[in-house]
Amino acid sequence: MKSKLKRSVLPVSLLATVLVTNTVLAADPAAGEKLAETCLGCHGIPDQVNVYPTYKVPKIGGQHAQYLIAALTAYKNKTRAHATMHANASALSDTDIADIAAYFASLK
Ligand code: HEC
Repeated sequence: MKSKLKRSVLPVSLLATVLVTNTVLAADPAAGEKLAETCLGCHGIPDQVNVYPTYKVPKIGGQHAQYLIAALTAYKNKTRAHATMHANASALSDTDIADIAAYFASLK
């Protein structure tokens, strides 16, 4: 009886680990690509220069997803100050941000 109990506990904890990992990986780059349409006007790919007026915009294609999530969340919460990027990030949900980050991270 004792050993039977032990055997049933292990798969449950493994399952929990898999579920937690999947939540992190669940970001949907295809959904992010749609949401990113407005971003590309400024974060133009491949040359990362705003079209008009011409000014340098940080390169975000190929950036790490975790970095993009942190940056967008900071703009949204105004812990990173930038009026334009706050305007762009304020309407995004955490899921949107994760999806957009997955999309840009998938670019070369
Ligand atoms: C009107 C132009 C414009 C638009 C539209 C725009 N951005 Fe930006 N973005 C900028 C500028 C300029 C900066 C640099 C701001 C700063 O100095 O903090 C920036 C910074 C960023 C950064 C931080 C990059 C870094 O290296 O730290 C991320 C991430 C980002 N934008 C993502 C997005 C996403 C996602 C969208 C669409 C939802 C978007 N941006 C729309 C102009 C724009």
